[in-house]
Amino acid sequence: MEGRVSPAGALSGPKSGPKVVVTGATGAVGRHVAHRLAAGGTPPTLLVRDPAKAAALGLPGAGPAVHGAAAPATVVRGDYADTDRLRAVLEGADALFVVTANPLRPRDDENLLAAARAAGVRHAVKLSWLGVADPGADDLVADWNRGAEDRLRSSGLTWTVLRIRTPMSNALAWAPSVRERGVVRAFGGAARTGCVDPRDVAEVAARALTDPAGHASATYALTGPQLLSAREQTAVLSEVLGVRIGFEELTAEEARAGWSARYGARIADALLAAARRRADGAAGGDDGTLERLLGRTPGTFAGWAADHAEPFRPACRRAPEDTPRVPSGASGPDGP
Ligand SMILES: NC(=O)c1ccc[n+]([C@@H]2O[C@H](COP(=O)([O-])OP(=O)(O)OC[C@H]3O[C@@H](n4cnc5c(N)ncnc54)[C@H](OP(=O)(O)O)[C@@H]3O)[C@@H](O)[C@H]2O)c1
Repeated sequence: MEGRVSPAGALSGPKSGPKVVVTGATGAVGRHVAHRLAAGGTPPTLLVRDPAKAAALGLPGAGPAVHGAAAPATVVRGDYADTDRLRAVLEGADALFVVTANPLRPRDDENLLAAARAAGVRHAVKLSWLGVADPGADDLVADWNRGAEDRLRSSGLTWTVLRIRTPMSNALAWAPSVRERGVVRAFGGAARTGCVDPRDVAEVAARALTDPAGHASATYALTGPQLLSAREQTAVLSEVLGVRIGFEELTAEEARAGWSARYGARIADALLAAARRRADGAAGGDDGTLERLLGRTPGTFAGWAADHAEPFRPACRRAPEDTPRVPSGASGPDGP
């Protein structure tokens, strides 16, 4: 699985063009960054914890090498806790895509940035949460993301921050209950949020990684073209799937209990706090940044749902890439 990494773990690949390391490549946005860079002629190095997972997700460079063909990407194993490994992987890279996901481990960002600096990386693009801009957001997840952004800005690297509110892929967390019971269950179902197609975020990330000068010192708020509530997303899903899907409102206690079982009490409290702020109208609007950067209308939730309908269909067996992810960004449809 790591056939295209040199023994030292340093980058292999073409001699020209920026060398880009992508972290979070098995995540909601990172996987599309990997594909986009590979398709755009910038074969990235993907730092993953589990190469088998990368292969199951069909990430570029994660399958068997094709004899005689240039590798579309290089998959290397690594964990944010292993600073020596990070340094070895980053040696010779020009740019780094930073995705961290555990609010209880602020050292992950610190380790990545220290390794990047030591390895001579010049530019870092970080995925963050738009909730940090909400007045009054003082929960664990907001503080963690703010701290990580600050750390990046003072890292000595040039930087770009991509803030998102809710990746549309969070709706995949609803797939089991839609498949099994024809229902979406969520807290704060009437609260609208600016969900965004992860593929659009990845497009911006890939541009910032390959054209640092054009995006240095920029903090982008990336939201899709519509503010939608969970109830409205449910209606869109019904339309796209051609079946009636019900909506059941969870109480705050039910929502917190579910999050607590999955992520622990501290993160559950933060998710609930963010959900309450969103119910109070904190989810903001779309300032047009994403459309301006893409030069086209960003993807709609209907478009995303049409491309990801299978996991919601009763007869479907969910593919690995459709596995819902932990909403550490605190804005999942089953979370705030
Ligand atoms: N999810 C949301 O609702 C949401 C909303 C707005 C903003 N955000 C922000 O987006 C960022 C990413 O959060 P997320 O939860 O959405 O990410 P994600 O898509 O779940 O991706 C997390 C990625 O990080 C990798 N990873 C985690 N710990 C690692 C470690 N110790 N070493 C190496 N790789 C590691 C994961 O690998 P594995 O596959 O091995 O776990 C995965 O590829 C956060 O700043 C979050 O606040 C998220």
